Amino acid sequence: MSESSEADRPLVVTADDRLLDDLLRLCAAAGVTPEVARDASAARRVWGSVRLVVVGPDRAVEVAAMSPARRDGVVLVGTDADDASMWVRAVSLGAEHVLVLPGQQDTLIELLAGCLDGAVLRAITLSVVGGRGGAGASTLAAALAATATDRGLGTLLVDADPLGGGIDMVLGTEDAVGLRWPDLASASGRLAAQSLREALPQVRSLRMLSWDRSDLVTIPVPSMRAVLTAGQRGHDVVIVDCPRRLDGAAVEALARSTMTLLLVPAEVRAIAAATRVLASLRAVAAPISLVVRGPGPSGLDASVVADALELPLAAAMRPERGIAEWLDEGLGPVRRRRGPLVGCCASLLDRLGVLGGAPA
Ligand SMILES: Nc1ncnc2c1ncn2[C@@H]1O[C@H](COP(=O)(O)OP(=O)(O)OP(=O)(O)O)[C@@H](O)[C@H]1O
Ligand SMILES: [Mg+2]
Repeated sequence: MSESSEADRPLVVTADDRLLDDLLRLCAAAGVTPEVARDASAARRVWGSVRLVVVGPDRAVEVAAMSPARRDGVVLVGTDADDASMWVRAVSLGAEHVLVLPGQQDTLIELLAGCLDGAVLRAITLSVVGGRGGAGASTLAAALAATATDRGLGTLLVDADPLGGGIDMVLGTEDAVGLRWPDLASASGRLAAQSLREALPQVRSLRMLSWDRSDLVTIPVPSMRAVLTAGQRGHDVVIVDCPRRLDGAAVEALARSTMTLLLVPAEVRAIAAATRVLASLRAVAAPISLVVRGPGPSGLDASVVADALELPLAAAMRPERGIAEWLDEGLGPVRRRRGPLVGCCASLLDRLGVLGGAPA
């Protein structure tokens, strides 16, 4: 292999020796030799000349305060799956990804390897999982995707729930022309981002990958990997509607997500069910945040649900009146721009720094 140029080398910023050891090992696995900076002033020297910057939580605040700090291709990498402050730091850093090791090390290796060909992943990726059946997870996923699209962001909505009936039906777009999962079941390896984007059904600028009405009921893991990798390259935001019972493809999607949102109705039995869902999520997803749908029948507060599940509360939302009829009539979940569902989606995207504003 020829000598790598400075841009081909990722910048690693941390003074945490254990984290640095992990990162050096993953760089070696990716075939790249990093520049290592132990503090922000050392980082500043090469800040603008590398394609990818990996920042440890120990240096995140210092780097965020650096001027000029904002740039593309910044990844925050930690080792504590329960550290709720990670994504707050990620927002202040303008990080495109938050990854927790060791669960998300494959994603990091792929990002690091991308330095060599300039193919750094771009999209913020949010997975949505229901804490119980019918919690409203698919509806929230579709509404998040619609809200991101309204912000001018290139958005991909991926239906990873084989038994969910099709996310296209939530949006009322089942007639849209383009590829569905059965068409991609044999996909693997590297898909061209632009070709995939152009081949998927589109509603305004929102692209989606859903099911058709045939009977394929599992997504092969290599297909999910190939689709998400290309989808993350070709979009600004990727939203994944995940099943509660995780299969291999869902695990793959969760491991590639910037954040997982667990949606739980404010009900005692929903908390019990969500505890079980959460146990399987914790093994593969990080960070996980809670969205509570209330009010519950006995007035349980969202903070009580968060305490019971020991999750950071990302948002609480009230029911969207009339939504059952909208969905049944194929009108989509976003009919009321000032309703609780759109408000919840907007605040979730804001908190993650998914601001948009200009067409992608
Ligand atoms: N924000 C909301 N406010 C009020 N009702 C809602 C809301 N979201 C969803 N619903 C109602 O809940 C029903 C189920 O929603 P949805 O299919 O999104 O749930 P889910 O968690 O994805 O279910 P599944 O367990 O089948 O995956 C919808 O048909 C709608 O009637
Ligand atoms: Mg669903």
